[in-house]
Amino acid sequence: MTQQPSTRYDVRGTVAVVTLSNPPVNGLGHALRVGIVNSLDRALADPKVSAIVITGSDRAFSGGADVREFGTPKSGFEPNLGTVIKAVESSTKPVVAAIAGVALGGGLELALGAHFRVARPDAQLGLPEVKLGLLPGAGGTQRLPRLVGLEAALNMILSGAPVPAATFAGTPLLDAIIEGDLVDGAVQFAEKAVADKLPLKRVRDLKVKQPDADAFLQFARNTVGAASKNFPAPLKCVEAVAASVGKSFDEGLKIERELFLGLMQTPESRALRHIFQAERAASKVADVGDDTPVRAIESVGIIGAGTMGGGIAMSFVNAGIPVVLLEARQEALDKGLATIRKNYENSLKKGKLTQAKLDERMGLITPTLSYDGFRNVDLAIEAVFESIEVKETVFKTLDEVMKPGSILASNTSALNLDQIAAFTKRPQDVIGLHFFSPANVMRLLEVVRGAKTGKDVLATSMQLAKKIKKIAVVSGVCDGFIGNRIVARYGMAANDLINAGALPQQVDAALQKFGLAMGIFRMGDLAGLDIGYAGRKRRREANPAAYTPIVADRLAEAGRFGQKTGAGWYRYEAGKRDPIPDPVVEQMITDFRKERGITPRKISDEDIIERTIFAMVNEGARIVEEGIAQRASDIDIVYLNGYGFPAHRGGPMLYADQVGLANVVRALKRIAAEPGVDVKFWTPAPLLVKLAEEGKNFN
Ligand code: 3HC
Ligand code: NAI
Repeated sequence: MTQQPSTRYDVRGTVAVVTLSNPPVNGLGHALRVGIVNSLDRALADPKVSAIVITGSDRAFSGGADVREFGTPKSGFEPNLGTVIKAVESSTKPVVAAIAGVALGGGLELALGAHFRVARPDAQLGLPEVKLGLLPGAGGTQRLPRLVGLEAALNMILSGAPVPAATFAGTPLLDAIIEGDLVDGAVQFAEKAVADKLPLKRVRDLKVKQPDADAFLQFARNTVGAASKNFPAPLKCVEAVAASVGKSFDEGLKIERELFLGLMQTPESRALRHIFQAERAASKVADVGDDTPVRAIESVGIIGAGTMGGGIAMSFVNAGIPVVLLEARQEALDKGLATIRKNYENSLKKGKLTQAKLDERMGLITPTLSYDGFRNVDLAIEAVFESIEVKETVFKTLDEVMKPGSILASNTSALNLDQIAAFTKRPQDVIGLHFFSPANVMRLLEVVRGAKTGKDVLATSMQLAKKIKKIAVVSGVCDGFIGNRIVARYGMAANDLINAGALPQQVDAALQKFGLAMGIFRMGDLAGLDIGYAGRKRRREANPAAYTPIVADRLAEAGRFGQKTGAGWYRYEAGKRDPIPDPVVEQMITDFRKERGITPRKISDEDIIERTIFAMVNEGARIVEEGIAQRASDIDIVYLNGYGFPAHRGGPMLYADQVGLANVVRALKRIAAEPGVDVKFWTPAPLLVKLAEEGKNFN
């Protein structure tokens, strides 16, 4: 046995076994590509070897092109993936790909270059490039249709979803399913192929079978074009696959390559690739290593069965973790449970849940009015009213009843976690678990690390987030943590625009055109304008001199709290959610401007995007600088998963990178110099200035 960089080479009888070995998932980086070609050449040169098996690990045959190499010169170094696959396909000795775990993207494309493919039944085969804003760029769009037909191939390429190998049993894509030891089975298959003198099957020599291919492709173009408006990749996938029908194999490969390289340069692909890496980076905490011990969380207690407590309870029971749900009063408990049941019944009606699952999940919830049930839970999450006095009572009680080693968490949106931790004698066990509403649906979880939070408590929370299918981002303690602190700035910038001359519907339209799921004023109407107003009122009473009037206060004072009162920034018809621009609001805005002596100016959509998004970016830079967020990409993850920021922009910080940080700084300086603006707010953050001066990016 010998070791090439990233491959292992053994000979079993007359069969060479080349094992890809580039953990964690055999990404096809340069060293691995070199290893494959060298191993292949070695096997071809050895007269004792009559066939070759290429295999990977139990986890992955290969996860595809090495995403860490994207955008670096190494990704283009020869042998590139196309060269490797060509070498495999043109081998004069039979090559068998033996697949366990995943064969994705370039990994599957490599297997498609082999003469034969065998797999474990549960291996997952897929071409997920579209999820990275790309298309299969190493022959996948040409070979897969030749093996499974145009329609099935296009579906796999457009969805990017992996398919279990067992599905392909009996199709030309798979020559055998191997239930026992994969490599033994593959070696036996190879020996038999040699003994039976099976012809070497080159997928490139097959023809795509599809009656009415042109009509099918036209239909695909129409549907895909309509369904993927912010993303160029899906239509390019159709174009590449179309070439597998009308063109020769080599022409098809050329078209695929050009389309692939073109997509690699698009801002949308850059955004999606950034998100892929940012999601994985978010789970890592610099000073909390993989070897940090974690505490077992087998049961959870939740205090408060309101909007958040109910959704949080669902997140846990959905993952099979039992929950004790505590309320202050029986009516509130009944109401909370009824809401949970109703949510599950809606899923049942939509066919997303069976009655048995519904019963099982409801059965995992133990409702209670007493803390007795909390004596044995491993984690308690408080989701009571946002009042420091109420939280104090709850945490003092938790401290008394909970067993040593359990974790005490708060879902507070903005209160000081260190103050909450100080209500207990075990601040090291206290952490913030800030869910987003509706908590059973939203993927984001801000994990708030207090000054004294134990590393094991943090590590446990990060692991638990994965178990309940949340994406966790660590935040330090500050007003609003990462998400709400930035949203406050975003709101201020939007309010400035209203003062200056814009209308809420214009601001929302521009933001929605940019790609946000909902404009900021619609979002305010949905969340309720009373919440922000109550906070501002509190601050105004504490410090009247610092108060600056805003139109939002006038709305709240007029009882316009948003959708729930039928009127806010918009008006709403009974039972409907469509925002209708309201002349009453326009008049309030006009009056407000007159009182303040503001002459309205024309505001462009470009102005709107610049001011709202750059306000977020500026605050994001301060958050990174202060160490509240560990990295800029964490801010993107928060915005993408908690606030409807469009994936094709990659988050506010990546958007700033794409605009160019120097341009962001110039714009902020220009705004800061305008008369009457809040100069401190608009002055570019020092980190932003530093990165711009050094010609660097956030990411
Ligand atoms: N290259 C390099 N590293 C990869 C990788 C890849 N293609 N795919 C995953 N990884 C890394 C992750 O970054 C992560 O690293 P970390 O431990 O340092 O954070 C580690 O592998 C584990 O990844 P996950 O946390 O996602 O683990 P899972 O077990 O949940 O999932 C997976 C594994 C199914 C392979 C999943 O990571 C995945 O879907 N990867 C992306 C696959 C993909 O998109 N491939 C296509 C690439 S483009 C291509 O091939 C172009 C070609 O057509 C020319
Ligand atoms: P809510 O008012 O819907 O629910 C609070 C529940 O707590 C009520 O059912 C109440 O009866 C119960 N409660 C109050 N005091 C209690 C006590 N001493 N013991 C037991 N139960 C008690 O409030 P919501 O919206 O669920 O908020 C809860 C917490 O979550 C707050 O801290 C809030 O800031 C935070 N949060 C809210 C979000 C939202 O969008 N609503 C988002 C993220 C966090």
